[in-house]
Amino acid sequence: MPAALVNLKPHHLPEVRQIFFETSSRKKFQNEEERERFFEKYVGYYLQHFPKFCLVALEQSRILGYLVASPSTGGKELLSLQPHLEVFKKEFVAFPAHLHMNCHHEARGQGIGRLMMEMIEELLRAESIIGLHIMTSPDSSNKFFYHKLGFDHQVLETFKGTPILLMGKNLSGKSL
Ligand SMILES: CC(C)(COP(=O)(O)OP(=O)(O)OC[C@H]1O[C@@H](n2cnc3c(N)ncnc32)[C@H](O)[C@@H]1OP(=O)(O)O)[C@@H](O)C(=O)NCCC(=O)NCCS
Repeated sequence: MPAALVNLKPHHLPEVRQIFFETSSRKKFQNEEERERFFEKYVGYYLQHFPKFCLVALEQSRILGYLVASPSTGGKELLSLQPHLEVFKKEFVAFPAHLHMNCHHEARGQGIGRLMMEMIEELLRAESIIGLHIMTSPDSSNKFFYHKLGFDHQVLETFKGTPILLMGKNLSGKSL
């Protein structure tokens, strides 16, 4: 049965939380409060502010993956929550939207990521958003996924000693 895409709703959060922490490279937290703040930073914030850009892929009622996005980047609240964004600020003119996505380990490599990406691009284009970016580690193999899906603009920066790769995709249909 092909996956169905629906908007992420609060009742999906326990399963999304599991996928989030399973895929996160950060495993250690001082306490439960710090762990929850980390989840809020990369998922909760988006659901609170941009629910129409938050998706889950479902097979029956099981969540295979999720994607959360913001149509703009660089607002004060987001910058204070995610200070590393500051080093890429000039990229947000051509690539204003950004997203975070993860698939359950059993559901990878089956087209779920591509399906969610196609849907978010459609939603962003419908709002005349001209570009989209993601950030990842330059060592992560997920950069090949994004490159395959058309994220052909790449900028490498360092924040507090950690290299971060920004990958951007033009959604405007016009050359930059
Ligand atoms: C990265 C991720 C979201 C991709 O979703 P997915 O459903 O596994 O990817 P898809 O099956 O839709 O793949 C689409 C294309 O990208 C390719 N691809 C996907 N992941 C890849 C990888 N790690 N390396 C190389 N190619 C990859 C697929 O082979 C496929 O190519 P094809 O269409 O020519 O067959 C998912 O694998 C995942 O959650 N990974 C672990 C966590 C992660 O890295 N999240 C992103 C954080 S920035």
